[in-house]
Formats: sequence, structure tokens, C-alpha cells
Amino acid sequence: MTASRDAEAPLPGVVGTGAAMAEVARLVRCVAPTQATVLVVGETGTGKELVARSVHQLSPRSDGPYVRVNCGALNESLLESELFGHVKGAFTGAIENKTGRFEAAHGGTIFLDEISSMSAKLQVKLLRVLQENEFERVGESRTIRVDTRVVAASNQLLEDEVEAGRFRDDLYFRLNVVPVYLPPLRERREDILTLAKFFLEKHAQSNRLPVPGWTRAMEEVLLRHDWPGNVRELENYMARVLVLCRGGDVDPAKVSPPGRGERRFKPAASARGRGDIAGLSRQLVRLGIETLPEGTLHERLVGGLEKELIDQVLADCDQVQVKAALRLGINRNTLHKKLNDPGRAEE
Ligand SMILES: Nc1ncnc2c1ncn2[C@@H]1O[C@H](COP(=O)(O)OP(=O)(O)OP(=O)(O)O)[C@@H](O)[C@H]1O
Ligand SMILES: [Mg+2]
Repeated sequence: MTASRDAEAPLPGVVGTGAAMAEVARLVRCVAPTQATVLVVGETGTGKELVARSVHQLSPRSDGPYVRVNCGALNESLLESELFGHVKGAFTGAIENKTGRFEAAHGGTIFLDEISSMSAKLQVKLLRVLQENEFERVGESRTIRVDTRVVAASNQLLEDEVEAGRFRDDLYFRLNVVPVYLPPLRERREDILTLAKFFLEKHAQSNRLPVPGWTRAMEEVLLRHDWPGNVRELENYMARVLVLCRGGDVDPAKVSPPGRGERRFKPAASARGRGDIAGLSRQLVRLGIETLPEGTLHERLVGGLEKELIDQVLADCDQVQVKAALRLGINRNTLHKKLNDPGRAEE
């Protein structure tokens, strides 16, 4: 491989070799070894989290911790104590000292996801960490110094947030040292088929199913769609294709076209992803009853559907098991047990 090809080699775990992703890989490989703050921007489902992880993996900090915090998932005071820690008695419920994620990421990388939802007060505190590498735990005046590299992500245009007065411009400039833009899938159509085949194989492996044969008809369907949910939507669709085309070739006639199924089945006030599951379950039940061998119906269908459901809800909840358990309405220990069941194939 030539030096320039090395520089554009795909990032770890990131599929897609089209020009747009080669440019992303080149930029990430260039910035990863430095201390620079990286801001990953792009629509939902474009792979920001994978790219953030690559920055860490390709940096001299790769042996250190990689800590992810979803800034959009916690309210201001919870997020403050999550990021910076607190001392016992700092507020009602602070029954013991807590180390924050910035300290936990010392020597490594902290990934601040959904950065645009950070409150004004926390933006000030973050700016100081970025400029001085120091902060105080909640309820304590002692200053703590850390050596933590920051990678942030946003699916909102931060410029717009700055313009609307919701995001500090000084923080924006400090974060935006090296922006990495992930184009939506519709603007890098050359990656659609590679990604689709990758996900089909990945899900076949994790479900211990044979990989269905590939067809030109499916290619046409995949290339026609605009994928507003980007790679995440494509992955979910291929998981559905696998289940519904088991034992044969991938056949668009057996699967509702991408985008359609969800709309048709989406309940009025559904949360993200739920309509998808409802659609999948109905199709599975219909198809399963017709095609599964006698005596295996319950186990194959309910077991398969449960796994599919859990995987999808986990993906929607960014792999946060507590959130997924809440959404599923099952106890988190039950979810943990199900995920660690030896009968369940590893992802
Ligand atoms: N290029 C890629 N190769 C392989 N898998 C990918 C790629 N891009 C995204 N994915 C997969 O698609 C899903 C969504 O990606 P990811 O979570 O990184 O998106 P995101 O940009 O962080 O979205 P959001 O803004 O909604 O958090 C994940 O399961 C991820 O592993
Ligand atoms: Mg994300």
C-alpha cells in the first residue's frame, strides 16, 4: 500500500470506501495523533459515534480510557455531576463522593455526544476545562486538573445554535478546531451496497442464520431510497430483510420497501424506532406462521423477535441498557441476563 492509500484506509469498524468516507478517514488519521479537539458533525445515524471512537483508537491515548457521555440524556444538574463529579452532601441525594467522567477519562478521551444540548452554565464549565484543563467537583472548591482529550458530536448545526444564542461562540470556536463532517448516506450512494451487504452478513452471523443470496432487484430498491435515517436506517432495514428472506435470496417482494413499513405501522405518538418494531412483528408473525416448520413456531418466532426487538431498542438507546430496559418495560437485571444468555449469539 502506498503512503497516500494508508492515509485513506478505512477507519476501524467503519465500512465504506467511497470518496466521501476516504476523505473522512484521511482527516481522522491526520488529527487523531494530535491533542486537538475534534467536533464530529452529521445527521442522525451517519456514524458519528464510530468516528469518535476511531479518533481515540488511532491516538497515542488508545491504551487509556474512552469515556462517552450523552449530554442530551441528562438534565443540567445530573450532567454536571456526571461530568465533573460531586462531593458527599453537595445536594440532596449526594450520599457519597462521586468521581466525574472527566477524571475517569484522565489519560484518555472523553466523547461528549449531543453537545448542543448542554446548558449555558455547563458550557462555561466545559470551556474552562478545554482552556485550562481544570474544574471543581460540585460542592467543593478544590481545583482538579486532568489530561483528557475531548471529542464532541452534534447532529445540529452548531453555527445555527450559536446564531440563535443557545450555544456560546467562544466554546464553539474552541470545539471546532478540527471539524469532521459525515455526509448523509444519500450523498454517498456509492457506499450503500457495501454497507447493506456488511449488515446482512453481520446480522446473519449474530442470528446464526445463513447469509441469503444477493439480488439485483434488492440493489435497485436500496439505491432508490433516500435513507433519511442514514446508516442506522439501512442497518435496521437489512436486519429486517434477513429475517424475512431467511433461507432464500434477498427478495424485495417479501419486505416492505424501506421507509414505507415504518410509516404504515407507526402509532400516532410513537417514540423513535417503535413503529419499526410494530411493523416487523406483524410481518414476522404473518410470515412465520406460513413458513416455519410445525412445532418450532413459538420458539423460533418469539425468540427471534425478542432478540430483534432488544437489539433495536438498544440501538435506539445508544446501547444504554438502563434506558433500553425502561423503554422495553422490563427489569434491567432481566435485560442483562437476556443479553448474557449463552444461547444468544455475540454481535
Ligand atoms: N460507516 C459505517 N460502517 C459500519 N457501521 C456504521 C457506519 N456508520 C454507521 N454505522 C452503524 O450505524 C449505527 C448508527 O451509527 P452511529 O450511532 O455512529 O450514528 P450517529 O451519527 O452517532 O447518530 P445519532 O446522531 O443518532 O447519535 C450504528 O449501529 C453504527 O455502528
Ligand atoms: Mg450517536
